[in-house]
Amino acid sequence: MPWLRVHLRVDREQADSIADALERCGALAVMLEDAGNEVLFGSTGNDEPRLWAHTNLSALLSDDTEPSRFVGDVVALLGMDTPPTWAADRLPDQDWERAWMDRFTPLHVGGNLWICPSWHAPPPPPAVAVILDPGLAFGTGTHATTALCLDWLATNMLSGSEIIDFGCGSGILAIAALKLGARSAWAVDIDAAALAVTCENARRNDVGDRLSTAIPQSLPACVDADIVVANILADPLIQLAPRLSRLTRAGGVLLLSGMLEQQAAEVERHYAAAFSTETRIRDGWALLACRRSALNG
Ligand SMILES: C[S@@+](CC[C@H](N)C(=O)[O-])C[C@H]1O[C@@H](n2cnc3c(N)ncnc32)[C@H](O)[C@@H]1O
Repeated sequence: MPWLRVHLRVDREQADSIADALERCGALAVMLEDAGNEVLFGSTGNDEPRLWAHTNLSALLSDDTEPSRFVGDVVALLGMDTPPTWAADRLPDQDWERAWMDRFTPLHVGGNLWICPSWHAPPPPPAVAVILDPGLAFGTGTHATTALCLDWLATNMLSGSEIIDFGCGSGILAIAALKLGARSAWAVDIDAAALAVTCENARRNDVGDRLSTAIPQSLPACVDADIVVANILADPLIQLAPRLSRLTRAGGVLLLSGMLEQQAAEVERHYAAAFSTETRIRDGWALLACRRSALNG
């Protein structure tokens, strides 16, 4: 059976209510996607899922739906003055879920490391596969900031090391490090939902027994690590400089990502006293690989 698909571009504040209205007006499925190239950061602070500033909503409808009437129903239901920008197309007969799943295939992120959705067979050894499905918690490896961190982890010796993933999102970086040979990891996030997703992802990857989670205030004071990874944003990275520096052992490495290329020098300045830094760039985003002197403690 063919389908009608209606796409609407909406703001974050409207996304939930419009998605709900799409279903109430007859959509059989609703998909939310980033309408820009935005990194999902932070928490709403009230345990609600986070969304992009501009979101594409796609509603799947039976083929005999009249699209302008459907959008009119949604607008009327919500009492909106003007309809959001929308467009419609027809989908040939196909398995909708299959089509969605087929968009996500195993992703090679560096060295032997792959990120693989659960519905694909993982690549055979020596490939190391992190099993991870697309979801709302940031971190499926497709964004340049995550990819920069994964590439560094995949191409450096992690055996036996202890890791802190500060701003863990889906837990992708901590889980990758554990699968690459790290001994143990702490995953830290201000968002309790991200910690729950991280635990579940660690369990599915058989590394749950080597991973601990905490919100920043609950991380035990005695915890430090050989490798600390923080893929957040330039401003929090600057504010967190004293803490992230303390968490990194002498001789250890602090990976800072989530900043634009033009912000890298300013972030680096706040870490320069304790670290020597190598900068890597991808798609306009920067990774600072900061090595702490083995002598300055
Ligand atoms: C860009 S995502 C990175 C997720 C994952 N580590 C990755 O590399 O794909 C940033 C994460 O940092 C968290 N975060 C933001 N500010 C933070 C802070 N001050 N302390 C700890 N976590 C923070 C957010 O909730 C979010 O999950």
